[in-house]
Amino acid sequence: MFEKRLTLDAVRFLNSRCFVLAFHAPEIARAARPGQFLMLAASDGIEPLLRRPMAVYQILESSGEPVGFSVLVERTGKGTTLMSKMQAGDEVAVLGPLGSSFAPPGDATAEAVLVMGGVGAAPFPLFARALLEAGHTTRAFIGGRTSEHLLCAEDFAALGVPVTQATDDGSAGHHGLVTAALTEYLSGCDGPVAIYSCGPTPMMRAVDSIASARGLPHQVSLEAPMACGIGVCLSCVVPAVDEAGGWRYRRICREGPVFDASTLLWEHPDD
Ligand SMILES: Cc1cc2nc3c(=O)[nH]c(=O)nc-3n(C[C@H](O)[C@H](O)[C@H](O)COP(=O)(O)OP(=O)(O)OC[C@H]3O[C@@H](n4cnc5c(N)ncnc54)[C@H](O)[C@@H]3O)c2cc1C
Ligand code: FES
Repeated sequence: MFEKRLTLDAVRFLNSRCFVLAFHAPEIARAARPGQFLMLAASDGIEPLLRRPMAVYQILESSGEPVGFSVLVERTGKGTTLMSKMQAGDEVAVLGPLGSSFAPPGDATAEAVLVMGGVGAAPFPLFARALLEAGHTTRAFIGGRTSEHLLCAEDFAALGVPVTQATDDGSAGHHGLVTAALTEYLSGCDGPVAIYSCGPTPMMRAVDSIASARGLPHQVSLEAPMACGIGVCLSCVVPAVDEAGGWRYRRICREGPVFDASTLLWEHPDD
């Protein structure tokens, strides 16, 4: 883990709300694994005080060597609005890489099926690259409210990963939920499949029902508002099963953000 003040190399807008911030940072680029995240300061002042968690989107290379990274940000509130106004040359305080990473399927012959909603797509192009390098057939299902909320399709296309898109309003791809497209695809699958998901909680929960019903392994990347990002404040806990058959809290920033979904309790046991 590194604590650095980095100079912002480039800002690229994908649409009116989503943009990519790229940084030169060889140590972070060498250390980062797909699914990990960084805590980025949104300003130099004390408002907002807390850094914002962002998944590692790309590892940037020069002559085949990792020299930097980027994050893909969706403007949702105060911090991300400030980030959307950042310019190349600005200094940004960054802590990371943090948390757990996606693991390739245990079965070397398994197809990896990546299911994502909205900005939950951010960690998957990097993971898709690692999966392809490891020899896994890889497929992406991208969901969004509208065509503007579909992200990363070009990244997967550049890797040669087949993409199925779905929008709630039918403005692009299948009209309906990405989970419906996933179910249809899995119905025609014979071979081993491992599922990975990241996006809105109802989507990940639905993906988990689909994976569990078919006995498929499922890794999930969770999100929660994070105060510290390093396991101290307990602002990011989720209930999970423990070894004794009971439950205990797990920290999304330390034990996660990537979890084996079968260890998570989607309902709080005390509710
Ligand atoms: C491990 C991890 C990786 C993430 N990766 C990305 C990424 O790659 N790109 C990206 O755009 N966003 C990502 N997020 C979500 C991002 O951190 C939040 O959208 C951001 O912190 C909101 O900050 P804000 O000041 O703009 O919003 P605020 O003004 O703080 O809040 C605006 C709205 O966003 C909600 N919100 C705040 N924090 C989160 C959060 N962590 N998760 C979900 N909703 C939140 C609030 O409840 C509120 O409704 C990630 C979150 C986690 C935990
Ligand atoms: S954000 Fe502080 S413990 Fe996870």
